[in-house]
Amino acid sequence: MTHETRTAIVTGASRGIGAEIARHLAADGIRVAINYANSPNAAEALAAEITDAGGQAVTIHADLADPAAPVALFDAAEAAFGGIDILVNNAGMMVFSPLEEADDAQIDAQVALNLAAPIRLMREASRRLSEGGRIVNLSTSVVGLYQPGYGLYAATKAGIEAVTHILAKELGPKGITVNAVAPGPVGTDFFLAGKSDALVEQIKGMNPFGRLGTPEDIARVVRFLASDEAEWISGQVIRANGGVI
Ligand SMILES: NC(=O)c1ccc[n+]([C@@H]2O[C@H](COP(=O)([O-])OP(=O)(O)OC[C@H]3O[C@@H](n4cnc5c(N)ncnc54)[C@H](OP(=O)(O)O)[C@@H]3O)[C@@H](O)[C@H]2O)c1
Repeated sequence: MTHETRTAIVTGASRGIGAEIARHLAADGIRVAINYANSPNAAEALAAEITDAGGQAVTIHADLADPAAPVALFDAAEAAFGGIDILVNNAGMMVFSPLEEADDAQIDAQVALNLAAPIRLMREASRRLSEGGRIVNLSTSVVGLYQPGYGLYAATKAGIEAVTHILAKELGPKGITVNAVAPGPVGTDFFLAGKSDALVEQIKGMNPFGRLGTPEDIARVVRFLASDEAEWISGQVIRANGGVI
C-alpha cells in the first residue's frame, strides 16, 4: 500500500450496508471517507462513532447521480487523506417494476446511480490508486435469479459485474484487485421498504438458513477483499447470500 495507514472511499455509507462496511474497514485501522447524499446527520453520527472508537473518518457529500460527482468525491477524499487505497462502490437504488411499467425517470435514475457512477469511480480509481489498491463493487444475487420485476436493477448490476471481470485484468499489472460482492436479501431500508411481513417471511425461506442477511454478513466479506490477505483474489464475484443461489 502507498500510505502508512490505508485509506478508503465507501460510497453510500451513511446507512445500511455501506455504514457497516465503513465500520469494519475502520476497525482494521483504515481511514474512511463516508460518502452520503441525503443523510448528513447519519453520516456525521457514523464518523463520530468511528472517531470515538479510535478510528479516523471524514464525511463527504456527493450525489452520485451527478456525472461530475465521482471526480469531486475522489478530489475531496484525496484532499482529506493524501491519497486513496480502497474504493468500495456501495451506493445503489432499486425500483421494483415490470419493465412495461418502468418510466424513463426510473430507468435513468438506476442507470445513473448503479452503473454510470461506479464506472466513473472505477475510472478514477484506475488513474489514482497505486500498487496494493483494492476496488470492491456491490452487485446483487438478483443478477442470477432472473425474477420478474427486477430486470432493470439486475441489468445495472450485471453491467458492474462485467466491468469487474474486465477491470481486474486491466489493473492486475498495477497490483490492484477488483472484485464484487453480490448480496442476497439484506434487512436494510432498501430491501424492507414496501414489503409486507408475509412477503419478508417468504423471502427468508428462499435460502436454507431461513433468515435475511445482515449488513455485517456483507461487510465482513468486503473487509476481507479490501485486506492484504486477499491480494490473490481478483476478478471474482462473491455471492454472499446464505446459499440462495
Ligand atoms: N439490501 C439488500 O437486500 C441488497 C441486496 C443486494 C444488493 N444490495 C446492494 O447493496 C448496496 C447497499 O444497499 P443497502 O441495502 O445498504 O441500501 P440502503 O439502506 O438504501 O442505503 C443506500 C445508501 O446509498 C446512499 N445513496 C443513495 N442515493 C445516493 C446518491 N445519489 N449518491 C450517493 N449516495 C446515495 C444512501 O445515502 P443517503 O441516505 O445519504 O442518500 C445510503 O447510504 C446497493 O448497491 C444495493 O444495490 C442490497
